[in-house]
Amino acid sequence: MSGDLIKLKERLKKEITESRYEHSMGVAYTAANLAMKYGLNIEKALIAGLLHDCAKSMEPKKMLQLCEKNHVEVFEVERKNPGLLHAKAGAILAKEKYDIHDTEILDAITWHTTGKPNMTLLEMIVFVADYIEPHRYKAMNLTEIRKEAYEDINKATLHILKDTIKYLEAGKGEIDKMTYNTYQYYNNL
Ligand SMILES: [Fe+2]
Ligand SMILES: [Fe+2]
Repeated sequence: MSGDLIKLKERLKKEITESRYEHSMGVAYTAANLAMKYGLNIEKALIAGLLHDCAKSMEPKKMLQLCEKNHVEVFEVERKNPGLLHAKAGAILAKEKYDIHDTEILDAITWHTTGKPNMTLLEMIVFVADYIEPHRYKAMNLTEIRKEAYEDINKATLHILKDTIKYLEAGKGEIDKMTYNTYQYYNNL
């Protein structure tokens, strides 16, 4: 790991809870693994994974303010539940606080929760890594999805979206319209 990455880790550690930090490390290494498998830049995958939840400990109101200040589009569902904004706020924080200016990395952070239609490989890798990293254990079909991630990343992405929508529709959270859009896109591939 390069010196820059070690510094990033140290800074991040002070900003988020210990369990969130462990999760972030899990996402970083899982994303790096997937980058090896699919021939992507490993360092970009590590950085995106490491920072994807960097705004998670921010107060919801502050996330909303940060997004508005930076003219990032905020949807109605996000305005009602600013907790959903940690991905968009995270991309802003990654730029302003962690000095990451690579738009591919920032976009991967922005879309890590809902995904979006026609994701780049890096976006997809972070989206999938967030769901399958080794500390995760609650989601259904994890064994199968972990296997799919290394066989066919589109298939793993669709499977995650399908299961996430099923889970949220069972009343365990509000669904971002973007999650449906992403599901439609990958279901029609
Ligand atoms: Fe997240
Ligand atoms: Fe996460």
